[in-house]
Amino acid sequence: MANLNAPDIVLQPVSVTRKMSASLPRLRDLAQSKGLKIHHLGAGYPHPEVTDPRGFLEHQAAYFAHLEAAEGLNDPAAVPEYLRESFSYTDTLGPVSTRQTFAAVYGRDWGTEIDPQKLIPTVGATGGINLMCSLAERPGKPVAYITDAPTYAGFTARVGLCQHATIFSVEMDDEGALPDVMRAQIRAARDAGYFVPFYYTVPDGHNPAGFSFSQARREALLEVAVDEGILIVEDAPYVYISFADASDRPRPFFAMAPAQTVHLFTGSKIGFPGPRVGFLYSEAELAIAGGETVALAELALTEASSDVLFQNPASLRGFEALLHEPADSGFKPIASMWQLAEGKLAVYRENRQILLEVLEEELGQYPQHFRWTTPAAGFFSVFTFLDDGVCTDDAFIENLVADHGVVAIPMYDFYPRDARERDAQAGLDQLRLSFCFSESTGEARRRDLREAVKAFCAAARDVAGVGG
Ligand SMILES: Cc1ncc(COP(=O)(O)O)c(C=O)c1O
Repeated sequence: MANLNAPDIVLQPVSVTRKMSASLPRLRDLAQSKGLKIHHLGAGYPHPEVTDPRGFLEHQAAYFAHLEAAEGLNDPAAVPEYLRESFSYTDTLGPVSTRQTFAAVYGRDWGTEIDPQKLIPTVGATGGINLMCSLAERPGKPVAYITDAPTYAGFTARVGLCQHATIFSVEMDDEGALPDVMRAQIRAARDAGYFVPFYYTVPDGHNPAGFSFSQARREALLEVAVDEGILIVEDAPYVYISFADASDRPRPFFAMAPAQTVHLFTGSKIGFPGPRVGFLYSEAELAIAGGETVALAELALTEASSDVLFQNPASLRGFEALLHEPADSGFKPIASMWQLAEGKLAVYRENRQILLEVLEEELGQYPQHFRWTTPAAGFFSVFTFLDDGVCTDDAFIENLVADHGVVAIPMYDFYPRDARERDAQAGLDQLRLSFCFSESTGEARRRDLREAVKAFCAAARDVAGVGG
């Protein structure tokens, strides 16, 4: 065994979701030894019913054959260009055809023009978060990120990798982050000597907060960002996992103010998580050292070229296939990504409805004891116990599995450290319930989810001591 003396290396804290999945087999055994069925309301993964890749693989093969035919090669031994490119070292920007197709359809969907030259491929939204943090941390000065309390665990985890980075968080009400608190936090961070590059948020289908920011709140937050001169990093995995009517959908920040925003698109929810397709898009210009002004996309491109070098070109080409109609429609580009979303939404809409219906049926008569969010997008609802003395800590979660077979995620770990310092009880009355995942499909999925929510409601009544 290598014996490396590395006193400066510290153990990273383990996220509660990771701890949960590590302890799940033991808890599952315990629950099963009591004859309990395990109910999933914890996992935040896309549902297996809408992520079967086989149909996609057929479509991709047909699209690639179409590309090959379009090249019109006469020599049967010649390698088609799309195939050569898919398996070669390529430009950090990735295949131009993928970016052009995506820019046209995504821009049309959100009523804005997207410049394909400013689309930087990333390894999912995770890669986009990493890229933005790396850019901000590169100068080596103390850096403070503004984000919501609670916020996405992947963001907190990434910030935790840098010893000179910290979080100044902003509490939320049911419309979004509080603009005055955001302004105060930016100023407090600056007064404490930090460089404040951006505010990170998930305005649509917030993970973990289980709601979407209102249009008015987006505008107010944008005003603060403009006044204070910071960017908004908009993580957007759930923009298409939307349950709102088209006329009620709020606008993403990048459509409102592309020069103030860094938009992180991911193919993980609208397509598949495995191929790790994502794009960072921004029209921001930054004043940098030496009095120069440079496009953020340019900086991100340089950063990406020394980090991932280039994103998997075959994955990007596969994503391009997804953006084209099937053979019988002549492989023309799809008119809108809402077409793709519909294929996913059928399941998520139904699941969301089951969750909300059963919660209402079983707990609606106890508004003084329980509250939950009604998500307009995304995978989650946040459930709050209103009784004093309920503490949704790790022991609570263990008991929920051991005594009721219900897996849910506690919220406290999603609150950044400063939020927990302001309020030691932050999130300790809340759980994140996810309605996106179950092991079963079709009618069994509906039945399992209904049973899971009923089991959860029985546990909640038990905890609050209501309903006999
Ligand atoms: C808010 C948020 N950001 C990022 C991710 C990770 O996305 P990706 O697979 O694109 O890296 C998730 C996944 O659950 C998420 O909820």
